[in-house]
Amino acid sequence: MRYNTIPNSLFIKNRNNFISKTEKNTITILTSNDIKHTNADDVMGFAQNNDLFYLSGIDQEDTILVLYPDAYKPENKEILFVKETNEHIRVWDGEKLTKEQASQISGIKRIEWVHDFEKVLQLMAFEADGFYLGHNEHIKRVTNNQQTQQDRMINWCKEKYPLHQYYRAAKITRTLRIVKSKEEVELIQRAVDISVEGFHRVLKAVKPNSKEYELEAELTYALVKNGGLRHAFKPIIASGKNACALHYNTNDNNCKDGDMILLDFGVCYGNYNSDTTRCIPVNGKFSNRQKEVYTSVLKCLKQGSELLKPGVVFADYEKQMASLVETELIKLGLLNAADIAIQDPDKPLYKKYFMHNTAHHLGLDVHDVGVYSKTMELGMVLTCEPGIYIFEEGIGCRLENDYLVTETGTINLTQAMPIEIEEIEKLIKV
Ligand code: GLY
Ligand code: MN
Ligand code: MN
Repeated sequence: MRYNTIPNSLFIKNRNNFISKTEKNTITILTSNDIKHTNADDVMGFAQNNDLFYLSGIDQEDTILVLYPDAYKPENKEILFVKETNEHIRVWDGEKLTKEQASQISGIKRIEWVHDFEKVLQLMAFEADGFYLGHNEHIKRVTNNQQTQQDRMINWCKEKYPLHQYYRAAKITRTLRIVKSKEEVELIQRAVDISVEGFHRVLKAVKPNSKEYELEAELTYALVKNGGLRHAFKPIIASGKNACALHYNTNDNNCKDGDMILLDFGVCYGNYNSDTTRCIPVNGKFSNRQKEVYTSVLKCLKQGSELLKPGVVFADYEKQMASLVETELIKLGLLNAADIAIQDPDKPLYKKYFMHNTAHHLGLDVHDVGVYSKTMELGMVLTCEPGIYIFEEGIGCRLENDYLVTETGTINLTQAMPIEIEEIEKLIKV
């Protein structure tokens, strides 16, 4: 494995928390993700289903987790099904998890081969009254016509056991996953630390006429070198006006002398993610206007991160952030108070320069699962990411840090990533 072993006590605890929230006499079935294929016979790589990972720690395809806490036979209370290897797999793909390894990683005693799943389940199914099944219930879920392993499990299970009750596992995992355990925070911190190293490499490499993808390569180097699994998302390396396209990620332009570059990037380490944004001058010195905009955004980040507190309603927090940014937009001469006073409240003027929210959960997903109608809680890891985008001036600035909400205020997990104008200018040597 690329990442350090995660103690299985984490997954045991997660399972105990999960089953404490399920209905009596129900079976939970969670599946791994499919391996996604490219055009011919190659694959895009594997990303585990995060709910399955959260409850088992297993990072392998063709895995099924079954939890039946009320089973009358103790051996049916927890069963993990993994792929049985064979000579063909060994020769072409290499080792797969043994039953002993799967048990060690997950802390589950009973491990079976996945091809026995239907047979084993049949012996338990009619004792139970219902099933909890996994599904992607993310608020920003992208729906397309690709059937997932979860979709197939739902269809299969409902066809085979039509008279059972059905429940949503994601409704439980999303309430558990929003509050991070110590081990999870450490994994996010490791992902951040690798991001910090990548950012330092970028600061060393950047110069007029760098290609955006050359800077992306510096981030990739740091993440692969340090055992990261993948980029947390396709990095955004956006110079000049490219930074005003929020999800720009072709990263194929020249970084022009005098432009500022926005870098929004993250590392996935042990399936946990970082998510950070920094802005740097191509030639090592911010112009006066870039400095003004940057200073405004940094001020919003500093003030905004202090608003991340237990009990705060997300919508209220976003309103306060919008108000902070609006004040800065007036100072920057982009808006004026008189126009704001008569604006249509449904179309606030600041939206021309600041179009997105500023806090999201971070964890196994970059935009981690959670319910934004709930209030902030201790143990949440949240981003803070205000931005100002002035297309006409070719300046887009966003600054993003990751924070752990604690009793004594937030801990900035991204503290080590340079952010002050002077330190960034000092670190760029062109
Ligand atoms: N990179 C995605 C985000 O900042 O939310
Ligand atoms: Mn973010
Ligand atoms: Mn980001």
